[in-house]
Amino acid sequence: MHYLSLLAVSCHFLSTTLAQNTRTVFQFPKPYWLENIATTRTGHLLTSVLNKAPAELHIIDPAATYDASTANTTLLHAFPGVNTVFGISEYAPDLFAVATGNYSPATGPEKGTFDIWSVDVSHLSTHPTEKPKVRKIASLPSSAMVNGLAALSKDAILIADSFAGTVIRLDIPTGHTHTVINDSTTAFVAPLGINGLKVLHATDPPTLYYTNTGLSAVFAAPIDPRTGKLVGKPKTLAADQAAPDDLAVTDDGTAFFARPYAGTLVRARAGEAAVVVAGAEGSQELGGVTSATLGRAYGDRGVLYVATMGGFDAQGGYVEGGKIVAVSVGR
Ligand SMILES: *[C@@H]1O[C@H](CO)[C@@H](O)[C@H](O)[C@H]1NC(C)=O
Ligand SMILES: *[C@@H]1O[C@H](CO)[C@@H](O)[C@H](O)[C@H]1NC(C)=O
Repeated sequence: MHYLSLLAVSCHFLSTTLAQNTRTVFQFPKPYWLENIATTRTGHLLTSVLNKAPAELHIIDPAATYDASTANTTLLHAFPGVNTVFGISEYAPDLFAVATGNYSPATGPEKGTFDIWSVDVSHLSTHPTEKPKVRKIASLPSSAMVNGLAALSKDAILIADSFAGTVIRLDIPTGHTHTVINDSTTAFVAPLGINGLKVLHATDPPTLYYTNTGLSAVFAAPIDPRTGKLVGKPKTLAADQAAPDDLAVTDDGTAFFARPYAGTLVRARAGEAAVVVAGAEGSQELGGVTSATLGRAYGDRGVLYVATMGGFDAQGGYVEGGKIVAVSVGR
């Protein structure tokens, strides 16, 4: 009995402590579904918006103070003709690949609308208010649903097709694409198969980390640095984690993945049980969290930035506008 009540007290203390490791950096109006997030070398945050035409890519300085009058200065680029910006990944210094296309939670993805673009943010360190140079790298007419992106090298991007249940390699110089992984761990399982992905370059060979939403799991697999193909069996990093979305990975192979419906950010490492590091079921602190990225500025060591879609209310509407939250995970 004593032991149990002690445990209850320490658990309560733990959750109280965890609730204090977050800070809302920026909140969009309602409804604003933030889909993905990435950090630039200047410490700025790029975030993408789902189901709002034209498709918007925003930039937020987590060190700045925003108020209502500055809310609309965060738009970095709008992509005409489509309503969603999906994954974002830096493939060369200051060059970010982004995926665009049509998607709505009610009707799903629209095949034939998916493109990959290059967004050059090299102006940020000298002329932060300038507009970025944007060019199309390729169209993906046969992709069912382009979702997460992860740079394999300066010449290649890996793309998660959540409906086909595959990983596609895009060759940047030629714009050519082909399927490189089609595995039981990437497979389509309703509502979505492989979703978020990141390439860890700190290992040799590199390791592909990915979530599979329908399989409720997170995987890690060694891949060929040039082709992106599997060179070993995928390992399960976390299982029974309903609806994982996008993820961030540190150089030691620790993954932090977002669970929108649970409203939690979860840490997973090989050989350890997965653990919630921020948010809680039933709390709006990280309600609808979709994605995470590592802070890169000096003051951001031990900080992850997450994006949310605002959380779902009981009627299926949005509780609030999507927001960006800083989460301290310790250093
Ligand atoms: C920015 O302004 C446009 C048009 O005035 C509006 O539709 C949009 O919701 C605004 N975005 C934000 C983030 O306030
Ligand atoms: C992936 O594999 C499945 C069978 O395992 C096959 O039906 C499907 O066509 C493959 N997809 C691609 C894009 O190769």
